[in-house]
Amino acid sequence: MATLLYPGSFDPVTRGHMDIIARAAKLCETLVVAVMHNPDKRGAIDPDERVALLKKACAQMSNVRVIKHGGLLIECAADVGADAVVRGVRPLGDFENEYQMAQINRMLGGVETLLLTTSEDCANISSSIVRQIAAFGGDIENLVPEGMANDVMGALGHLKP
Ligand code: COA
Repeated sequence: MATLLYPGSFDPVTRGHMDIIARAAKLCETLVVAVMHNPDKRGAIDPDERVALLKKACAQMSNVRVIKHGGLLIECAADVGADAVVRGVRPLGDFENEYQMAQINRMLGGVETLLLTTSEDCANISSSIVRQIAAFGGDIENLVPEGMANDVMGALGHLKP
């Protein structure tokens, strides 16, 4: 695969996302990570700040590019010339939604989706858990990309419990 696209809301990026990014980057020449809009979610962090956090987290990965895209996933895939989309699935609850998204994107745009199973140690991590713990001033060190707890805390500093 020449180019894979990993889309998400990344609000904020977590160790779970980094697990998928690191593994997907090994499967392709270029991995494009796209911060996109999920209409079902009210964003907590400004999209440009999410991009900045992801760029810092991926700084050592030479074949990973981070972008922001405000359109449909199939449009983003066409814009970046993606050969396929990659998404992570956790053991509980993700599959049905990912299956539907993959089918719709293939039907509408001919875009294939590769599903990677989340590593065991990331199975219970989510962006909303990170947001909740941060809002209470708790320790998010082991949930966010290595060495980035302060950056993520800074981006979430406005949240109240
Ligand atoms: N390990 C642990 N957790 C993971 C994970 C992993 N490997 N991968 C994702 N997660 C978590 C995230 O932290 C996030 O947690 P949250 O629900 O508490 O916020 C959740 O799983 C999924 O978030 P993420 O992968 O960041 O993004 P998303 O599912 O919100 O992204 C879009 C969805 C943006 C790709 C989708 O809405 C989209 O395509 N939008 C564009 C519009 C469009 O084309 N719509 C039609 C789609 S068919």
